Amino acid sequence: MTVHSLRGFRDLLPPDSERFASIEATAREVFSFYGYRELRIPTIEMKELFVKSTGETTDIVEKEMYAFTDGGGREVAVRPEGTPGVVRAYIEQNLSQSGRNAKFYYIGNMFRAERPQAGRFREFEQIGAEHIGNASPFADAETITMLLKLLERAGLPDCTVDLNSLGCAECRGNYRQTLLAYLRGCSEKLCEPCRIRIERNPLRALDCKIDGPRLAQEAPKLRLCPDCSAHFARVQELLRLSGADFRVNPGLVRGLDYYTRTVFEVRSGSLGSQDAVCGGGRYDDLVKSMGGPAAPAIGWALGVDRLAMLLKDKSAPGGAPAVFVIAAAKEAGNKSFELLGALRAGGVSADFSDFGLSLKSQMRSADKSGAAFALLIGDAELKDGTVTVKPLKEKGEQMSLAFYGMAPILKELLKKVK
Ligand code: HAM
Repeated sequence: MTVHSLRGFRDLLPPDSERFASIEATAREVFSFYGYRELRIPTIEMKELFVKSTGETTDIVEKEMYAFTDGGGREVAVRPEGTPGVVRAYIEQNLSQSGRNAKFYYIGNMFRAERPQAGRFREFEQIGAEHIGNASPFADAETITMLLKLLERAGLPDCTVDLNSLGCAECRGNYRQTLLAYLRGCSEKLCEPCRIRIERNPLRALDCKIDGPRLAQEAPKLRLCPDCSAHFARVQELLRLSGADFRVNPGLVRGLDYYTRTVFEVRSGSLGSQDAVCGGGRYDDLVKSMGGPAAPAIGWALGVDRLAMLLKDKSAPGGAPAVFVIAAAKEAGNKSFELLGALRAGGVSADFSDFGLSLKSQMRSADKSGAAFALLIGDAELKDGTVTVKPLKEKGEQMSLAFYGMAPILKELLKKVK
């Protein structure tokens, strides 16, 4: 009897795991240039947090949340996204005290019980950025250009951002009525869930996977108030100024309830139907509505699984050791083991297979390992205190180096290997 992993949950094996780690390292570096600091938030929160912030009528909360009653009778949920946790922490930990610009990033796994398919998992990783306490269009432009910088540094250049504005509560209040009247008028054409949810939140129909694309064309459009319109125009101007590639997509509504004004997504055709690699937007009212100070905010989250898929044909970093140590004689095991330790201590990554195996077998492992050099210790080397260095990647002469003090010499040799 073997136990299998759950559907939609997966093991990340090398080189995929290394690709994830490299994306995370790139993100940390980019965040540090933009003044973002890391926030680690809990994986499990009160269910109410997501109901109130992500939104009661969203697919995420209605259908996809891993929610349960814990041993203490509390209604809890495994986080489906990071923004609500960041906002809760911002309020609970008084992070508004840390200055006007509270800029946080997080890296962590999120959980949604969606139907698994290519690029859609039930446990997936997000890298997220949240900038709280800044209402200006400069913050919008900075957050989007930072995202593009990250994608470029990670190896996905030439991304296009889909951009839209959902207006403020006032613009949306008027629009809600117009849209509801329209949707009621054509409700027989809507899918069953939409017919029910339009009464609670007509905007969700625009985000529906079945009806959304048609409604984006046919339904009445949102009209922005003068302030929201000016904000949106300014964001576009600043993005143009920074050379960002974007297009305004009036059909972009996003599937979470807290958005106001600017929303955006980065898509890639090669992801198929799950084509958003990143999504985000402004949420100017959320902090206040969750009991915090009036703090306008903007942020985004990047799907690391999807980005890693897009980078699949690029070689993953790391993995191969620099050198591979081989005991070419029965008695050379101890000395070879000592060499491994000395190399690692000297900053040279080194590996081995089994010093008890035949020379041929150890050489085969060395070839497979991707190491640049095999380091052999046989009877002759034991006698005169040397190590034989055999190039594995490029044709070249074997050479002999003294056992002690070889790490710096190897480091120089490694610099010349492609
Ligand atoms: P979201 O659009 O729900 O936004 O998710 C952001 C990204 O997470 C998506 O673009 C996608 O790449 C990835 N993602 C979502 N669901 C899955 C899945 N089932 N499998 C694999 N990847 C997935 C948010 O979560 C917001 N919190 C973003 C935000 C931050 N808005 C403001 N601040």
